[in-house]
Amino acid sequence: MLHTLAVANYRSINNLVLPLGRLNLVTGANGSGKSNLYRALRLLAETAQGGVVNALAREGGLDSTFWAGPETLSRRMLSGEVPVQGGPRKEARRLRLGFAGDDFSYAISLGLPESNSGESRDTPSAFSLDPEIKRECIWAGGSYRPASLLVDRAGAMVRMREGRNWQVMAQHLPSFDSLYEQIGNDPACPEVSHLREHIRRWRFYDHFRSDAEAPARQPQLGTRTPVLHHDGRDLAAALQTIREIGDAAALDAAISDAFPGARLRIDMQAGGRFAVELQQEGLLRPLSASELSDGTLRYLLLVAALLTPRPPSLMLLNEPETSLHPDLLPALGRLIIAASQHTQVWVVSHASRLIATLEQHPECNAIVLEKQLGQTVIQGQGMLDEPAWKWPS
Ligand SMILES: Nc1ncnc2c1ncn2[C@@H]1O[C@H](COP(=O)(O)OP(=O)(O)OP(=O)(O)O)[C@@H](O)[C@H]1O
Ligand SMILES: [Mg+2]
Repeated sequence: MLHTLAVANYRSINNLVLPLGRLNLVTGANGSGKSNLYRALRLLAETAQGGVVNALAREGGLDSTFWAGPETLSRRMLSGEVPVQGGPRKEARRLRLGFAGDDFSYAISLGLPESNSGESRDTPSAFSLDPEIKRECIWAGGSYRPASLLVDRAGAMVRMREGRNWQVMAQHLPSFDSLYEQIGNDPACPEVSHLREHIRRWRFYDHFRSDAEAPARQPQLGTRTPVLHHDGRDLAAALQTIREIGDAAALDAAISDAFPGARLRIDMQAGGRFAVELQQEGLLRPLSASELSDGTLRYLLLVAALLTPRPPSLMLLNEPETSLHPDLLPALGRLIIAASQHTQVWVVSHASRLIATLEQHPECNAIVLEKQLGQTVIQGQGMLDEPAWKWPS
């Protein structure tokens, strides 16, 4: 489980340290930074998949993702006594992401290549605007202390602590590769592979498509599917898998909770294709996935995601309420709460009935974001509420 998430210099997040629980609910006005925080977690996930630099490029490049405000907002700027203005930078511009987990913690910092640096390359690279991974650290325990550092990547070099000494694990790490790619399989670095596997088991579900061509509406070749694909293409197989090796009673309950009298059927078509069908009260034949309403389809997708027989270490749902009628939201909230018994959950939501259902749960960690002079802050978070966090220097 993650206990702390820290993000700095990423879009509207100048510097944010959040305490995390099993069930985390992120709310806030439009533009307060909920999606930015969600994307920051996605970027962290990309470090273990080998795609963090590409993911930043897809977002428009590192330069545009940097916090657009001044390096620090002074108290007098915040109170309005003096106008907001930038000064000379004290530190190099870095996008920083990190988390503290049960055993190990991790932080990464990314920056732009130094132009005109002393060591001019023999051949200039066409990728001179690519972000570079400048530093990565893995340490034991929550808050960073130099003494608890276990693995340290600085530029192209990775070192690992061995007793009282440091062992160099790699010297020519490309600036676009995270240490997970380079030494994630090295049996000499169990912390790295442990964290990599942990991060790879995070699962993101973000706005399932429900248009006529949506993958979830098409019959698909069915194989056992304990994990629903993030675009929902294997919905029928995932639901059938829950029936066979998961919590079939919870599946039936989730359907009748939302659509009283309705029954879910998985139709096995010729050629091994699986299709979802919903038999509803009053109809002479079941409706196929292509005939279901957007909200019904999305609800089925969320059911399949949340009742997974193989719970991830962290499940992230971005605005799962999209196109669901408010009456369905308490049922969805109960499913999310049940999932949080087996997996850490992160839900971003605007929907008051979903928020109300989740907030009733004693373990709900409700995080309300707001903007203060353009930067995302946590409503009501004082200095003392902020978890201990220090970026590796
Ligand atoms: N580089 C940047 N520097 C500062 N602020 C930025 C930067 N890029 C985006 N923003 C701000 O971040 C905000 C967008 O935040 P985000 O998309 O996370 O909002 P949200 O809480 O998800 O809102 P919604 O509920 O509308 O989805 C916008 O207000 C935008 O002005
Ligand atoms: Mg958003």
